[in-house]
Formats: sequence, structure tokens, C-alpha cells
Amino acid sequence: MDKQQAQEKIQALREVLNQYSYEYHVLDKPTVPDAEYDEKLQELRQLEEAFPELITADSPTQRVGDKPLEGFTKVEHSIPMLSLGNAFNEQDLHDFARRASQGTDTPPTYVCELKIDGLAVSLRYENGQFVQGSTRGDGTVGEDITSNLRTINSIPLSIKDKHTIEVRGEAYMPHQSFLKLNKAREENGEELFANPRNAAAGSLRQLDPKIAASRSLDVFLYGVGEWEGKQLASHSERLTYFKELGFKTNPEWKKCSTIEEVIDYINYWTEARPNLNYEIDGIVVKVDNIAQQEELGYTAKSPRWAIAYKFPAEEVMTTLRDIELSVGRTGVITPTAILDPVKVAGTTVQRASLHNEDLIREKDIRIGDPVVVKKAGDIIPEVVRVITEKRTGNEQPFSMPTECPACDSELVRLDGEVALRCMNPNCPAQLQEGLIHFVSRNAMNIDGLGEKVISQLFREKLIQTIADVYRLEREALLSLERMGEKSVDNLLRAIEASKENSLEKLLFGLGIRFIGAKAAKTLAMEFETMDQLANATYDALIAVDEIGEKMADAVVQYFAEEEVVTLLSELRELGVNMTYKGPKKAAIAEDAVFSGKTIVLTGKLEQFTRQEAKERIEALGGKVTGSVSKSTDIVVAGEAAGSKYEKAQQLNIPIWDEAQLKNILEAEEEKQ
Ligand code: IVH
Repeated sequence: MDKQQAQEKIQALREVLNQYSYEYHVLDKPTVPDAEYDEKLQELRQLEEAFPELITADSPTQRVGDKPLEGFTKVEHSIPMLSLGNAFNEQDLHDFARRASQGTDTPPTYVCELKIDGLAVSLRYENGQFVQGSTRGDGTVGEDITSNLRTINSIPLSIKDKHTIEVRGEAYMPHQSFLKLNKAREENGEELFANPRNAAAGSLRQLDPKIAASRSLDVFLYGVGEWEGKQLASHSERLTYFKELGFKTNPEWKKCSTIEEVIDYINYWTEARPNLNYEIDGIVVKVDNIAQQEELGYTAKSPRWAIAYKFPAEEVMTTLRDIELSVGRTGVITPTAILDPVKVAGTTVQRASLHNEDLIREKDIRIGDPVVVKKAGDIIPEVVRVITEKRTGNEQPFSMPTECPACDSELVRLDGEVALRCMNPNCPAQLQEGLIHFVSRNAMNIDGLGEKVISQLFREKLIQTIADVYRLEREALLSLERMGEKSVDNLLRAIEASKENSLEKLLFGLGIRFIGAKAAKTLAMEFETMDQLANATYDALIAVDEIGEKMADAVVQYFAEEEVVTLLSELRELGVNMTYKGPKKAAIAEDAVFSGKTIVLTGKLEQFTRQEAKERIEALGGKVTGSVSKSTDIVVAGEAAGSKYEKAQQLNIPIWDEAQLKNILEAEEEKQ
């Protein structure tokens, strides 16, 4: 056989093998016996061995790479992978439907899908080839797990749509594979996986793709990330198109025209759930129409056009051995139940927050009680009720102390609050909690200062206030348990770097009541410096969009505290930045070039990342959205722009090239 003939034969074999594989793994309807597939695959292997120059990455023989990776590289998601808001009952679903109807012109219709309990993944295709597969990570940055995902037979290595597209979905482990895997692990004396989700996640985090290949993982796709492909008007059309491209979608999705129909679907699956051969933890409800989805938009964390209904949690029995008290960042005393360890929804539970004294009274919880526990939303352990019939009579009633367990000051109950509080601003327990918040990721983001290190630092009196973080010295840190040279150096570097953070991180870190990360950003953008914020009046604060009365009050009160004034001047002296460094609010004047304009970026941009282009356009007043519609004002088309370009032409929307965008951005930024 010459090379030409081999090429043709190889091509034909690949096509037929891909078709068989699609029928078997995606459609679940094999048309030939396994032996026939194996035979053809073997034939292809032999031909590729004889003509290795004809091997391509998308050949069915190339699913499993032969070399383990050294580590996973990071992948930045050009469109963040968000999570979903939760609904726990019918009321929450009605509320969702009401919000959705109010936010759109015509009442929306919905698509219901099973909420697969696995690991969110994103699959990127360029020129019809599967080029990258990644985990969700923190939503913005995930890990590159391409070689592991390639081993999943239902993921096509090539597709017929040549545009850049990202499809998103859930990788999961079917029940049988999970049971088989744990059985084998038990026989080998290896630790068992708690549930299929952990097993799937553990398998995809293996550096050797052969391990992932042996774990029979699968995937269901249900969404898009970056998408230059065919523009479709609804989510249901997208699901249909996914299937046409060879992607595996879950067959159980259903269109529902009313929220009542959605509830019927949920009720059906609440019963039918055990019949599935994979784990689901709820139902996802999505507004079907894409234009309506865009109208509804997103909160910082999740879309407003979708919600996840979570099935009620599994309930189990155990004994409450003790009640422990802790002092929070704002002085609130929280009682926690110490339980005999029990397995609930896949993990062992031994503590559950009891929230406050009222709740303990209401449920009549006593030490030694037999109790029912569950995980609310399948995550947070909770004592549901006491099984009073099983009491022995030896149970001890519990009452809250009158003094702070950390500093002995008298506890108070503020007007209208159920919580007991320690009001001592120097209470060591409060300071410690405040510091844990101060160094956390969304605040000053100081890596290496975990809870254990912080409590050591307090114990050793190396830290008493937040400002002391910036006074820590190398020698002192080296004297702590489990702190080697390297961790100390890393920590000091992280502390030093945090001084340069933009104002909103410090503001959030200070832990002002009612000021979360988003409000901190709004305030930092509006007032630009700590001084200007500290001097802002209640009226000036309340005038800011998204700042409510409670927040304004809390800010005014906070900056009036003498301790706060001292703390801020200390931090300033220690070199901590107190100005806002993000895109300027002032720049977004009414007359900024892009003010009120909606812009769509499409195709491959060469001179900036999508994120950068987006930020710079936003700084000039523009809004960047993902799809072209009548309300789009400008489409910026990079290399290989696809259907969005065509749509812009049809709708007569001005189309810019990248150079035009760059010129305008530079010229306008110059003016500022
Ligand atoms: S849609 C913008 N659909 O649930 C977010 N998510 O709680 C789009 N999940 O992170 C997500 N099945 O990992 C969607 N049919 C489904 C899903 C699903 C499982 C997971 C996904 C997501 C999490 C949100």
C-alpha cells in the first residue's frame, strides 16, 4: 500500500470509528458489536504504525497520551464559569419566575435539566479540533486537564463547526464505574472515594492520563463559554445543535412554559432520581430564550436567568455530645453542636452550628440529646430536631453564658437582635477572627497566613491588631511551629505585596458591617481614597448607586471610632496603599466615547486579551456583551470572526477591526 492509499484508508477508518463511537458513547445506541469496533481500531493502529507521519491528534488511536504530565497549567476562562443561585422549595421557584418575568418583556419559558453531581468542565474547540479542556477552578482561572478529558470517549476530538467554541458541562462518574472503582480500591487496601463526585474529580486531577482513561468517566454538556459558532435564539436550540455536533447532552431535559410545569418536572425527578445510573443533586431551571437571558443578565456570581433547585437533604441520626462557643469577627457568640461523627451526604459530620440561643430553646436542644442532622443545601451541617422519644433523662439543658468565653466581658443582646455579643473591641477572639477575614482571598489576599498560624501569632502575642501584620519580623516568624525558612520568606513576600492592593481590598478586609466585597468596590471607585471615604457624609454615601441606608450608616459609624482612626494612620505609616487603582469612575463621564453603547467582541484579538479589551471599553463607559442583537452598537471583529460578524452585517451594525478599536482606546485614554 502506498502512502496515498494508506491516507485514504486511514481517513475512512477514522470516520467509521468516530461514527461507531458516537453511536455507542453519545447516543447510547450501538449499531455494531464491540468486536467490530476493536477490529477496525486495530487495523487503524497498524496502518498508523506503518505510516506514523499520518497520525493526527484527533485520531481515535490518540485518546490516551503515553507520558504523565509534570503538573497542571492554569487556564484563564475568557468568559467566567459562574455558579447558580439555589432554590430549596416551591416558593423560591415562584420567586425566581416572578423576577424573571419582571425582568423581561414577555413571560419567559424555561428549560429544565437534571443537575449532574460531578465536576464542571469547559471544552474548547478551534478549527474543529478539541484544543483545550479545563476545570472551573475559582470560575476565572481553572486547570488545564486536556489530556485527561481526551480519554473520555463521548468527547469528540474533532467537530464539523470550525469556529472557536467552548462548550461547558459536567464530567461525572456513572454509578457502576464508581462501585467498581471502590471495590477495587478496597481490595488493594486503598482509601475509598466518599462519592462519585469526589471520584470523578480525583480522576481528572491525575497527572497520568492512563489513570483517568481507566476510570470510565463521562460528560454531559449543557452550556457555552466563548462562542463564535452558529448563533441560536434559545438554549433548547443550543442543546439540539450540541447533539448535531457530536456532543453528549443529557436526554432528560424538557421545555416548560410555566413554573407549574417546572414544579411537575421537579416532582417527577424527585421520585425517579434513584433510577438513574448517575448522581444528580437537583434540577437546573433556565430561561430558554437567549435574548431574554441577556436581558436578565448576571449578579457577581451567577446568572439571573437560571436557578438550581436542590433536592431536600438526607437526614441521619446521631448524638449531640456538647455545645461549644465561639466568638465571631463582630463579637457575636455562636454555639456549635459537637456530634458523634456520622456520615451525611457523602462526608463525615461532627459539628453543626446552632446559630443562637433562641434556636437552642425553640428546638429544646440539650447536651446528650439524640438528634436528627442533615446538610442544608447538601453542604452545611444542621441539627434538624431532637428525637425526644429517645431521651434517657440524663440530658442536660444548656444556657448561654453571661460573659464572653474569650475575654470575660459582659455579653449583651442588642435591640432587635437574637445574637449575644461581646462588645469589647479589643477582645482577642474577635481580633483573631477579624484578622482571618483581613487576610482572606477577596480581602488582602495574604497567602500563608492560615487560621493555625494566626492563632499561634495571637498566642505568642506577636499580633494584637491588624496593623501588627505589617510589623512581623523574620526571626519571630521562624520561631513558630512548622514555619521553615521558605514559608516565612513566602509569607513576608505576600505581606509586602498586599501593601500595594487597591483600596477596595483593604476596605473589604477591615470588615465594616454590611460592606461586602461588592459594596467595597463601589465605594472605592466612587471615593477613590480612604480619606475621602472617611470624610464622606451619610448623604454623600446614600447618593451612591447600590449603597443603602444600613451600609451608609455603618460606614459613618465605623470611621467615627477612635480605634479606627488610629488603625488607619498606623496602616498608612506602615506603607499600606489607601487609594483606588482600578478603572476610574471619573473617566466614565456621560460624554465618554462609549457611554451608553453596547459592544460585542468577536474573533481572535491579537493585541489585547478579551478581558483587557473589555475593561478598557468599560472604563470609557461602554458595555461589552456576548451576542449580537438589535441593541448592539458596535461589533469589533478580530481574526476569523464567524457568525456574529455575519449577524452584524445583516443588522447593519457598524463593524470595527481591532486596529480601529485600539486607535480609539489610545486616543481617548490619552485625553484623561
Ligand atoms: S448551568 C452559569 N446546568 O451546577 C452557570 N449547571 O451550582 C451555568 N451543574 O457550576 C451552569 N448540572 O457545575 C448547569 N444541567 C446543568 C448542570 C449544572 C450540573 C453544575 C455546574 C455548576 C453548578 C452550579
